[in-house]
Amino acid sequence: MMSARFVSPGSFRVIFFLWASVLSLGLSSELKVKVRLPDGRITEELLEADSERDSITLEYRQTDGTLITFVADFKQDVKIFRALILGELERGQSQYQALCFITRLGHNEIIPSESMARLRQKNPHTVRTAEEKRPTETFSMNVAVNVTLAWQLSALIYNTCSVARDATYTREADMRHWLDTGTEGSMFETLPQAVEVPGLQSCRSVNDLWQPCSCTYSMRLEWYPCLLKYCRNKDSLGHGASYKCGIKSCSKGYDFTYYTPHKQLCLWEEET
Ligand SMILES: *[C@@H]1O[C@H](CO)[C@@H](O)[C@H](O)[C@H]1NC(C)=O
Repeated sequence: MMSARFVSPGSFRVIFFLWASVLSLGLSSELKVKVRLPDGRITEELLEADSERDSITLEYRQTDGTLITFVADFKQDVKIFRALILGELERGQSQYQALCFITRLGHNEIIPSESMARLRQKNPHTVRTAEEKRPTETFSMNVAVNVTLAWQLSALIYNTCSVARDATYTREADMRHWLDTGTEGSMFETLPQAVEVPGLQSCRSVNDLWQPCSCTYSMRLEWYPCLLKYCRNKDSLGHGASYKCGIKSCSKGYDFTYYTPHKQLCLWEEET
């Protein structure tokens, strides 16, 4: 049942991942992958695929304790990034601070949920680094999203972002796209932008903790299956048939910039 047919290609490339040939109806699965972080430490990344909901969830803890969660909703073409940042109690912060960033999921950003659900690891103890490092993408998140009303965008937003009610954001271009496709406007609130608030500075250069500023939060998906690899199988007549024989892994950074009413809510800008 779990056997994976596998033909070694002629190259020296080592293939780490195999496909389980199981029925994929309503399949959900979990994969734990050891991943090396940029500081050299190792974290365990959890990848969950739900082929019925057509979604993938990826989660890992950074060295500083921050929990990063990424959700891809293929049904709605929506992706969600969440950061649960440990607060500094001695600086009057709550136990943790939650941020949610919602944006459109492009095609071929990550492998389909059905392929993810069937992915198995040959050696779970191997520490992995991504084969391809993709450039960091910058997002200007100047629209606040009401999490209670966001079920219209994706059924997965509420569960992921209800801990970040006051800090769930999207881009104006994404909002316009969703409005054009019939989504109700009441869930969106456009926030002040640097152009509208003269003197709105980056939080990095603001000293007063109660002053509004433009905050940037950076996160990285350190390892994710971004492409399917195909191999060719030659039959006796020399005809080739291609079949899925592995994945390519990528890492990618994301910089999210958004308006925050108090620098107090953006203290990481100080520490960098
Ligand atoms: C979000 O929408 C709900 C339901 O309409 C409403 O009760 C709530 O006040 C809204 N939240 C914000 C921050 O506007």
